[in-house]
Amino acid sequence: MRPLTIAEYEAIARARLHSAVWDYYSAGADDEVTLRENRAAFKRIRLRPRALASVGDVDLRTTLLGAEVSMPIGVAPTAIHGAACDEGECATAQAAGALNALMIASTESTRPLEEVAQSASGPLWFQLYFSQQTHALAERLVRRAEAAGYRALVVTVDSPRWGRKERSIRSEASYDWPPSGNFADEADEADEVADDDEGQDDAAAITWDDIAWLQSITSLPIVLKGILTAEDAARAVAQGVAGIVVSNHGGRQLDGVMPTIEALPEVVAAVAGRCEVYLDGGVRRGADALKALALGARAVFVGRPILWGLAADGAAGAQHTLELLRDELALTMTLAGRPTLASLDASLIQCLG
Ligand SMILES: Cc1cc2nc3c(=O)[nH]c(=O)nc-3n(C[C@H](O)[C@H](O)[C@H](O)COP(=O)(O)O)c2cc1C
Repeated sequence: MRPLTIAEYEAIARARLHSAVWDYYSAGADDEVTLRENRAAFKRIRLRPRALASVGDVDLRTTLLGAEVSMPIGVAPTAIHGAACDEGECATAQAAGALNALMIASTESTRPLEEVAQSASGPLWFQLYFSQQTHALAERLVRRAEAAGYRALVVTVDSPRWGRKERSIRSEASYDWPPSGNFADEADEADEVADDDEGQDDAAAITWDDIAWLQSITSLPIVLKGILTAEDAARAVAQGVAGIVVSNHGGRQLDGVMPTIEALPEVVAAVAGRCEVYLDGGVRRGADALKALALGARAVFVGRPILWGLAADGAAGAQHTLELLRDELALTMTLAGRPTLASLDASLIQCLG
């Protein structure tokens, strides 16, 4: 029997994966308060459906920075897909491509970004990690991403240091992790090793100046991932970014920050339509996506569900997780009497308190 829900994929993945891989994929930082809250906050939100609307067929097609996609649900960048299935990120790209959904490929993938692009038939964005010491390495990655056809750069801005994923710290040494896919080149390896030797803790974390530097070396649109406040959203827009992902890294960085669905309204208000706003963190149901879209997100991205799908059934499993979310979103829109993306707005959400 094929799984019926994302939660069923989670249970299969948990049973199949090496415990160290499960811990790494599932962990949040510290007490995992934000990890849990990402889910709980979605469940607290109540919907205000409209009756007797003309619902007909639901059309989920939209554009993300100009790229046409079949649905406002895409793949968040997550590291090390090769620990979930042998084909790693190539399987993920195949899955997203089969549905013409957007995939954001991580710097920390186990397949080179060029191979991921060759496996893709849908739009791809490239997620970039860098520090002040690794501009040269970042520039090489940007050139490679440009040449391979990636359409935007997603800079993760919530990770000046790594959060402490305590469950994963305990178990990570018990697994033989697949090597990085993007740093096989000698110069890049040297840069990465230099960065590692100093340790991320000694590397100077990027600031707004480094975003300006990135803008000066590429014409690809830049998306900042990990913005949670109106202040930072306003600053990002002033600096000319093309998009913002409201994200707390799936609860893996600063524990105790607000769940993303609660941060979304202030970011949307501060941006006021001047760039695209997306959300990730805890999306496990079509209704979660619906709530984020109603509160102003243009799309949502899923992290762990894709890893669970890969672990359960490779590319087919990852594709099916996206299909489940897509079909649930279409059904909830129909039941809510809001059959088009354009008809989703905050009046669908009941204000509590
Ligand atoms: C195992 C794992 C690895 C991740 N690796 C990255 C990464 O390499 N780069 C990045 O920007 N975010 C990374 N993230 C964060 C995701 O992009 C995303 O913000 C988060 O997973 C969304 O929450 P969800 O897993 O609840 O859907 C990772 C998350 C997980 C669970």
